[in-house]
Amino acid sequence: MYSEKVMDHFQNPRNMGEIENASGVGTVGNAKCGDIMRIFLDIDENGIIQDVKFKTFGCGAAVATSSMATELVKGKNIQEALQVTNKAVMEALDGLPPVKVHCSLLAEEAIHAALWDYAEKNGIKIEGLEKPKTDISEEEEEEDY
Ligand code: FES
Repeated sequence: MYSEKVMDHFQNPRNMGEIENASGVGTVGNAKCGDIMRIFLDIDENGIIQDVKFKTFGCGAAVATSSMATELVKGKNIQEALQVTNKAVMEALDGLPPVKVHCSLLAEEAIHAALWDYAEKNGIKIEGLEKPKTDISEEEEEEDY
């Protein structure tokens, strides 16, 4: 049911981990399945994504899509990273079963959330980027109350 590429990225995930003092961090979740994905971006002064890592607490397809998404944005500039949609991630993985499409959406949203965080930290606006709806990092911060 899964392509070889999905199995490969699930069993040997690329760029798993975290980046300390990342330029941008995005955490998104899917309320229905409860899976959570976090992406860390290290962006240099020219707006190039030098490094990217992910942490995913979720299903195998979520791990595979996070892994592929990080591979696709690494070394790219911000506008190019915005083009890495869930469709692009799915194509790069040779497809996903229909019930697993939402897992790839999580990857797209996590990248957008991390870029949004980067933009906010630097007081810039990224053309074409909208505030991610499922960014749950703000809720986490509120837990301190
Ligand atoms: Fe929800 Fe895969 S089942 S992210």
